[in-house]
Amino acid sequence: MICTKTRGTPQHDIFSFRRLAATGYGRRPAITPRPFSSRPIRSKRERVVNPVLERLYRDNFVVHKNGRRKPVCPPGLTLERGDYLFQLVRARRPTLTLEIGFAYGISTLHIAEALRRNGRGHHIVIDPHQRTRFDGLGLEHVKEAGLSSWITFHEEAAELCLPRLVQEGLRLDLAFDDSGHLFDHVITEFVFLAQLLRTGGVLVVDDAGLPGVGRACDFVAANRPDFEDVSVAPAPGLLRRLLPGESLPPPPVNARGKPRMRLFRKARDDDPRDWSDYKPF
Ligand SMILES: C[S@@+](CC[C@H](N)C(=O)[O-])C[C@H]1O[C@@H](n2cnc3c(N)ncnc32)[C@H](O)[C@@H]1O
Repeated sequence: MICTKTRGTPQHDIFSFRRLAATGYGRRPAITPRPFSSRPIRSKRERVVNPVLERLYRDNFVVHKNGRRKPVCPPGLTLERGDYLFQLVRARRPTLTLEIGFAYGISTLHIAEALRRNGRGHHIVIDPHQRTRFDGLGLEHVKEAGLSSWITFHEEAAELCLPRLVQEGLRLDLAFDDSGHLFDHVITEFVFLAQLLRTGGVLVVDDAGLPGVGRACDFVAANRPDFEDVSVAPAPGLLRRLLPGESLPPPPVNARGKPRMRLFRKARDDDPRDWSDYKPF
């Protein structure tokens, strides 16, 4: 389902989420999940998971309506990171996922394809610039891949859309933040994503190497006791003790061993800080 809400329109019918919830979030026959390895994904293991992604990665350009060619990656996720999201969604089998930052739809195609293979779930996508900057091509790619019924799209800035979703009582199992990358935007989005995520839910933040994104993630890691930073693989055996019954593979790393994405797990429902709490980070 694609609901293209624009800034300032009267608000979104929780409508479909209720309907979706009643029908088990569009549960369909599942495909047996591939076991998730806990070792970081390396380039040779990455797979292109549908023909539309295959074409977009191969050509690495799209043609806008004015005839101009534009690259797909960047802004799109590399195959390594897209495959990481795909495998994370396959392994965790979430009911409701959300991402901020759609562009030409690369990350959405990975997440929605994983939901389709899981046979369950629904994906919410937020981006104010889909038609103005990306000519609606992300939506076209999702449609071409036959994945439209797996997503709800909001053509709206995250800082306006997320608070409304909080008020609507949405509860997410997985969120992916790949939007404006400015420090204050990442923090703002985190504040609302923290409320939307259910305990045990995970947040993936892309472009952790960018200073604004990295520092915002450092703030969360140092100052939010309700979130665990699980971006780096713990010593063997420790992960299992810390997160019984869970498998949270660490995100891909760069040549210096630094995570390209940050991964947080919501460990408790309340934020226990006092009003004066602040840890330098
Ligand atoms: C790096 S691109 C996203 C790439 C996409 N995840 C992919 O893999 O193809 C960043 C996106 O963030 C969007 N963006 C910028 N500011 C935003 C905001 N305030 N709220 C939501 N999205 C925003 C831009 O329009 C752009 O599409």
